Amino acid sequence: MMVTRVMVTGVMVTVMVMVVQGSPFPSDHWGMNMTTPELIEANGYPVEIHHLTSEDGYILELHRIPHGRSGPSENRPVAYFEHCLLCSSSDYLMNEPEKAIGYMMADAGYDVWLSNMRGNTYSRNHTTLNPEDVEFWKFSWDEMARYDVPASIDYVLGETGADGVYYVGWSMGTSVFWALMSDKPEYNDKIKAMAAMAPVAYTENTKGIMRELAPFSHDIDLMTSLLGVGEVLPSNELMDYMAEHYCAVEDQYVEVCYNFLFLLSGPDPDQIPKEFLPLIVSHMPAGTSVHTILHFEQQIPAKKFQMYDFGAIGNLEHYDQDTPPIYNLSRVTAPVGLFWGNTDWLADPTDVARLASELPNVALNFNVNKTQFNHLDFGWGIDADKYVYQHILEFFAGY
Ligand SMILES: *[C@@H]1O[C@H](CO)[C@@H](O)[C@H](O)[C@H]1NC(C)=O
Ligand SMILES: *[C@@H]1O[C@H](CO)[C@@H](O)[C@H](O)[C@H]1NC(C)=O
Ligand SMILES: *[C@@H]1O[C@H](CO)[C@@H](O)[C@H](O)[C@H]1NC(C)=O
Repeated sequence: MMVTRVMVTGVMVTVMVMVVQGSPFPSDHWGMNMTTPELIEANGYPVEIHHLTSEDGYILELHRIPHGRSGPSENRPVAYFEHCLLCSSSDYLMNEPEKAIGYMMADAGYDVWLSNMRGNTYSRNHTTLNPEDVEFWKFSWDEMARYDVPASIDYVLGETGADGVYYVGWSMGTSVFWALMSDKPEYNDKIKAMAAMAPVAYTENTKGIMRELAPFSHDIDLMTSLLGVGEVLPSNELMDYMAEHYCAVEDQYVEVCYNFLFLLSGPDPDQIPKEFLPLIVSHMPAGTSVHTILHFEQQIPAKKFQMYDFGAIGNLEHYDQDTPPIYNLSRVTAPVGLFWGNTDWLADPTDVARLASELPNVALNFNVNKTQFNHLDFGWGIDADKYVYQHILEFFAGY
């Protein structure tokens, strides 16, 4: 069934892409070998690179766009961006400046900070551990929520002197927010408002590749033999090579590359033009731990939003109880705007509705006004500015 839908999508893709009027970028491979700071600079924006160390020793890199193209000004509100699974600070810059939310918010007057959580392309250092060793990769998104996000928010508040941030999360960037606010509710006071794009907490109705893997998630041995023990999918020379040689528009394998994205995220043939593929694939996947992926997989059959499941014995060691503790969503008291799409396989509308019913302060529940809008469109859709970002700017203006 799944394959049939994707095949249909594949055919539609072929038809739709013909009407796309070329790439907005100077060349097909533009931006491919650039880091996030290089991308920002190439688009004519000021950029800063910052480092901080989490309580448990991970050295994290933040990217800042201190102001937009019209120059600096006093008392700029602070926007804080948190990235998705296998993503990085580049997520919010994957289009021309008028259409990518990172640049849009800088031009709208915000001081923009883009986070990189442990294990991704920019945050692969530790005070004592080495990413070559398995020890480095013993984390899931629980640790990102417990250590990386609060350390990064505190760092940004310290640097800017602001009393709170406007938080933008996409997918896992929302999961870590719910987890942090539940774990350390005092952080709600550091949030002016939070915009959740493709919000992920419950994943009972997830479809696609993630769902296909879920039945095996309890079989840690099988999963680790499939995925390895430490790191998964680093963004390295191999991925750049793939991007250039398999995902380029003129390449015979471009359909395979293209359909893989839809298998992961849900259908929507007209929002991601093939011209974007080399840029997207060269920046993603940006690396994470096996446990981070397993953690999401575990929650599909568990039907719960909870901490990493180490199995009964491991749970006793970690939590003093044989099941993982549940994240208490009623502690997320900061004002939240939920932005969700109709054909998002990873943030299914039914699951988003359950999340909305359990969050105590949903200030905006925004269904993207388009029949098909999938998980990846929130970052990379050609019209995400119109369908989503403008509405986020309006939402934030009220706080
Ligand atoms: C992180 O590690 C890389 C590679 O070992 C090194 O080049 C870089 O300077 C380190 N960055 C920080 C902030 O420690
Ligand atoms: C969840 O948090 C709320 C608010 O702090 C509290 O009243 C409630 O008892 C908690 N629920 C559970 C199951 O711990
Ligand atoms: C949704 O989009 C349609 C056109 O595509 C438009 O007519 C309608 O007014 C929009 N609805 C809202 C609530 O913006």
